[in-house]
Amino acid sequence: MKIRSIEKIINPVGVTEGAGVKLIRSIASPELDHLDPFLLFDHFGSDNPDDYMPGFPMHPHRGIETVTYMLSGKVNHKDSLSNSGSITAGDVQWMTSGGGIMHEEMPEPVDGKMAGFQLWVNLPAKQKMSEPRYQEILSDLIPEVIDNNGIKVRVIAGVYQSVTGPVTDIQIKPSYLDVTISPDATFSFDLPGNHSAFAYVFEGEALIDNQKVGSPKMVIFSDGDQIQIKSGGSTRLLLISGEPINEPIARYGPFVMNTQEEIRKALMDLRSGTFVWGAQSK
Ligand code: CO
Repeated sequence: MKIRSIEKIINPVGVTEGAGVKLIRSIASPELDHLDPFLLFDHFGSDNPDDYMPGFPMHPHRGIETVTYMLSGKVNHKDSLSNSGSITAGDVQWMTSGGGIMHEEMPEPVDGKMAGFQLWVNLPAKQKMSEPRYQEILSDLIPEVIDNNGIKVRVIAGVYQSVTGPVTDIQIKPSYLDVTISPDATFSFDLPGNHSAFAYVFEGEALIDNQKVGSPKMVIFSDGDQIQIKSGGSTRLLLISGEPINEPIARYGPFVMNTQEEIRKALMDLRSGTFVWGAQSK
């Protein structure tokens, strides 16, 4: 069995997105364009509402999945399929844009707080123009594995110690774990050797591969069958993995396709009002 080592440590960079939301980004950053099949990773949250209240007004997506996981606060959303609702602390929304969706995501503080993550997951060519789909999982339905060695894992997707997460039927066979490690405890996780994997440390300090990793930082793992992370104090991190797609990537803002021609088509569809799924054939 091969324990995975650290391939790279990414320092998140500050960016302004949407209508003026300040956040920090680790994938789709100057240091890392993508980690197949992951296209973007953002960490949002601030004690100052001015940093997030402008939100993400109505905008398109095509060819990807956007995954929003909330730590605190609330995001109110609605979309071109007439879905609407809010996600709050501990909830996850796994949105498959497929061939085209328009949605808005507007943050709102709860008890003065707002924080969470957005991950973009690529879709293979054969699913890029598929029907959009939502999996919105409320916190209560996310299983928590607590072991007596001081490890707590919320299993959002994938399998940890025989407990399966509620997000299902995703092409890249993802694991998405929210992991809390008590001082001196060691978390270990088995995964397929060829899956891409990263840890995003957002509280405390982790010890990985004999290296100290503070927060917030992203660790990209090399290939191998098992990940081992020791706490360097009280540590909380996301552990995310998935099967690479190995196809060409053409990206332009909220569209990620295989070719430039498909990007041009997305822009044309947007201009002609035939962008959203189902409108193309009408
Ligand atoms: Co969006």
